Amino acid sequence: MDGSTGASRYDEVYAAWKADPDAYWSRAARAIDWEVAPRTIFDPKMGVYGRWFPDGRLNTCWNAIDRHLGAGRGNQPALIWDSPMTGRSATFTYAQLHDRVARFAGALAARGVEAGDRVIIYMPMVPEAAIAMLACARLGAVHSVVFGGFAAAELAARIADAKPKVIVSASCGLEPGRVVKYKPLLDAAISLSPHQPQHCLILQRPEQPCELTPSRDVDFLAAEAEAPHMPCVPVAATDPLYILYTSGTTGAPKGIVRDNGGHAVAVMNSMAMLYGLKAGDVMWTASDVGWVVGHSYIVYGPLFAGCTTVMYEGKPVGTPDPGAFWRVCQQHGVKVLFTAPTALRAIKKEDPSGAFVAKHDLSKLEALFLAGERCDPPTAEWASALLKKPVIDHWWQTETGWCISGNFRGFGLFESRFGSGGKPAPGYDLRVLDEGGQEVPRGQIGTLAVKLPLPPSNLPTLWHADDRFRSAYLETFPGYYNTSDAGMVDADGYVWVMSRTDDIINVAGHRLSTGAMEEVLAGHPDVAECAVVGVKDSLKGQAPIGLVVLKAGTTKDEATIAKELVALVREKIGPVAAFKDARVVARLPKTRSGKILRGTIRKIADGETYAVPPTIDDPAILDEIGDVLKAAEK
Ligand code: COA
Ligand code: AMP
Repeated sequence: MDGSTGASRYDEVYAAWKADPDAYWSRAARAIDWEVAPRTIFDPKMGVYGRWFPDGRLNTCWNAIDRHLGAGRGNQPALIWDSPMTGRSATFTYAQLHDRVARFAGALAARGVEAGDRVIIYMPMVPEAAIAMLACARLGAVHSVVFGGFAAAELAARIADAKPKVIVSASCGLEPGRVVKYKPLLDAAISLSPHQPQHCLILQRPEQPCELTPSRDVDFLAAEAEAPHMPCVPVAATDPLYILYTSGTTGAPKGIVRDNGGHAVAVMNSMAMLYGLKAGDVMWTASDVGWVVGHSYIVYGPLFAGCTTVMYEGKPVGTPDPGAFWRVCQQHGVKVLFTAPTALRAIKKEDPSGAFVAKHDLSKLEALFLAGERCDPPTAEWASALLKKPVIDHWWQTETGWCISGNFRGFGLFESRFGSGGKPAPGYDLRVLDEGGQEVPRGQIGTLAVKLPLPPSNLPTLWHADDRFRSAYLETFPGYYNTSDAGMVDADGYVWVMSRTDDIINVAGHRLSTGAMEEVLAGHPDVAECAVVGVKDSLKGQAPIGLVVLKAGTTKDEATIAKELVALVREKIGPVAAFKDARVVARLPKTRSGKILRGTIRKIADGETYAVPPTIDDPAILDEIGDVLKAAEK
């Protein structure tokens, strides 16, 4: 089912936005409660490329919670926590969520947290993660959530950069078959970081409590219970709501800044426009609060719109079976499900005929949204045929906070083309550029770039790094934001996102830097040089593989070194890197100027045909690499 209604208002709305962007965003801003409504919609002279709603003042938490109490939604479920990992679940009405968030804001304030202070949140998928985020927003403090699958060194890098006054964490996370003890990771990260937080608020989970460090650590729930309610603190629309670190091309992660005003306006606007949701509807985003999708659509978006959000601590398969997603949809009356294609591939692998789909009543489910990586057409077709609902791929990035392209339920859907991420959202003037920055004709592949200014909710800059922001995103094509995604726009205006133009890879919907993994491999005492590339993986989309050249005179056997390298990446970056394959080669293919030919290595690994690069110093190396890759496959 393609979801086509034949009556989409997309063209009309997109044209109206393009004709008068200020009028479009001024209308969208009316759906938000402001302490001081903005009179200026966009100031092109402020910041790096301009700022949205510069004279507005608001509080994000007020818009997510408090205003719904006045609108009679106090007894409506705001957040449903469903945890097959623990066998427990909980429902919080808007009134109950208000009570907990206002109190936890009091607990933070009692530890000196004020507007503008940073708070790092390193937590599993528990309601307290959302409570901590909203409590920061309530105080005007800036949260930075760190995904639980990152190792201590990655957490330390974020602590060093964000300089949090307080860290909020938990005693443990739960992965199938193992308990992830957070406290030792947290302690190691703090000792690695040059910056020390004043306090850590730790949620003690019954599955694995931990010992608290005297004078630094405080019990989350006890601190919350004894704290008074804190009111919302209005902040400037341009003040940061959060920093979310994402992979860059080096080991140093990029601190994406999200402001309060632009974020509230654009994310609220997307709820009806894109997802077709209104107050009272149930949205389930099967992702993690550590990713941008979790920020926008587990926490803020559904709550801005007065919906009920589902927070799930489990996996698509194995908790307990491939029917887990359909069970949650049925049990909680989910209207829109949003997940990553990799999750669907995991379900499809275990339940290809859809026997588990047939066991559940999915009559309330209206649409399935996918993002995080390109959805391969067979997976989209499989889901579409089984669910008989629109399956909508939409393209976005941590940097944007909402989609760049999609298919808009609020306008009436246009025909889905599987493999395409839909059409540009109103707000994005998307162009396809060649290497010289010239636009290429429709149907031709180039770099996808957005003509400045970026719409509200997109990053105004990187945390304390305007220059890195300019050089990473704005300098390649002056006047444009470089998405670093390659693709094309077809004759009918559909966007096809094909691959990254940098060394970022996408593993199970997780964005990872091969450069960061290379830095870790290069740190092994026996490694002279190395290359990491992402090769095709039928479940995770891509998987990293490392090729290493050993230092002359190394006597250790290759299998031991390979094992050590796998362990080192897990220790330094974390299990999320899913780095399981390191192979020793005699030499790496390079250009005459010494640049490693990673693109060619990837093609060899994927079994694609490749042209021998004319600049290669010795073409025979390519055969050697092919032999090593084939030998390991056997
Ligand atoms: N804390 C600690 N460890 C974590 C973790 C967390 N929050 N999340 C993942 N990990 C670990 C996993 O346990 C796994 O460890 P292992 O090597 O010991 O098995 C490792 O990190 C790799 O995880 P992942 O790549 O996610 O693989 P998986 O086999 O656990 O699960 C999928 C595969 C497809 C089910 C899973 O990746 C998934 O649901 N992906 C969806 C991603 C998503 O929502 N992306 C957001 C964009 S919308
Ligand atoms: P992240 O910042 O983790 O959300 O990852 C963003 C990157 O994931 C993008 O730059 C793309 O490379 C990829 N991506 C996300 N969504 C899609 C999609 N729908 N289609 C193709 N690629 C996608």
